[in-house]
Amino acid sequence: MSFPEVRLRRLRRTEALRGLVRRTDLSADHLVMPLFVRPGSGVVEPISAMPGQCQYSVDTLTERVGRLSEAGVPAVLLFGISPKKDPRGSEACAEDGIMQEAVRNIKKAVPEMLVIADVCLCAYTDHGHCGVIVERRGEKVVDNDATLERLVRTALSHAHAGADIVAPSDMMDGRVGAIRSALDGEKLTDVCIMSYAAKYASSFYGPFREAAESAPGFGDRRGYQMDPANAEEALREVALDIEEGADIVMVKPALAYLDVIHRVRERFDVPLATYSVSGEYAAVKAASANGWLDERKVVLEIMTAIRRAGADIIITYWAPEIAGWLREPGR
Ligand code: PBG
Repeated sequence: MSFPEVRLRRLRRTEALRGLVRRTDLSADHLVMPLFVRPGSGVVEPISAMPGQCQYSVDTLTERVGRLSEAGVPAVLLFGISPKKDPRGSEACAEDGIMQEAVRNIKKAVPEMLVIADVCLCAYTDHGHCGVIVERRGEKVVDNDATLERLVRTALSHAHAGADIVAPSDMMDGRVGAIRSALDGEKLTDVCIMSYAAKYASSFYGPFREAAESAPGFGDRRGYQMDPANAEEALREVALDIEEGADIVMVKPALAYLDVIHRVRERFDVPLATYSVSGEYAAVKAASANGWLDERKVVLEIMTAIRRAGADIIITYWAPEIAGWLREPGR
C-alpha cells in the first residue's frame, strides 16, 4: 500500500499519538554530570569557556553534589586539578590527593550518588600529556607500558577512596586489563571500570583543557587518541576493552561520532556510554546566548539523537538542567 491509503502524518496528529509510537526515551536515570575539583576551600571559580560550569574545592563540590542528587542526577564524573605537577604525574595517585579527598567526602556526605573517578595523568604531569614521556629516535613520546603502572596506582587510590567506578581516559593500550587485575588483586572486585574505549583526538576538548588546566605543553594527543577518520578501529578498541574486563565502554565525543556509537551498539551487547564533551556544550551555549538557538530544545534534541544512536549512558554538563526539563509537564 502507498499514498493515499498510507498517510504517515496520521500518527503525528497529537502529542498523545506521538507519545504512543515514540521509540526513543530520555530519562535522568542515564545521565552523568562531570565536575572539576581543585585544592582550597570555598572555591567556586567559573570556567569562562563553559558558561555555567565551575571549578570547585572539596567543600563546595560536596554541596554541589548534594544539590545534583536532589535534582535527580544519579552519577558524577570527577576530574582533579592539581598545582603539583611533575614529569610522572605523581600526585595523581597520592592518598591525600585532590581526587581522593573529593571521592571520600562525597561518598560520606551523599552516599547515594554514584562516583566515577576519571583516571588520567594529564592534570598532574608538568608536560600536560596523559602518560610518562620518554625520548625515542630523538623524539619525545608517551611511553605506553611505563604509563600503565602509574594509571594502575591511580585507579587503585580512587577505588580505595570509595569510587564506585574508575574511568581510564588516557588511551594507553592494555590499561583496562592492568587496572582490572590490580583491583581484583586488592579484593576491589565490585569496583566497575568504564573505559574511554574509543576516544578520538578531538578539537572539541578545547574548553575542557582550560577547565582542567591540562593542555599539552608540546605536541598533541594524536599519538594515543584515535584518528577522527577511523570507525572500524573503534570496534577493535571496544572489543579489546571488553575482553580486558571493561564493564562499560565509552565513545567520545558524542555528536560528531553518532555513527561510531551506532556501530558499537550494533556489534556489542554491553553498556555503552558517550561523552557530550566541553566543545559541544560551549558551542550550543554560545549560540543560545546570542539568541541563535533555543538551548533547551536543542539540548533535548541532541540527547534524543544520542540515545537513538544507541548510547545507554550520557555524560553531559547539562545533566541537572535536563533532569529538570524532563520533570516539567507537557514538555
Ligand atoms: C583527559 C580528558 C579530556 C577530556 C576528558 N578527559 C581531555 C583530553 O583528552 O585532552 C575531555 C572532556 C571534555 O572536553 O568535556 N584525558
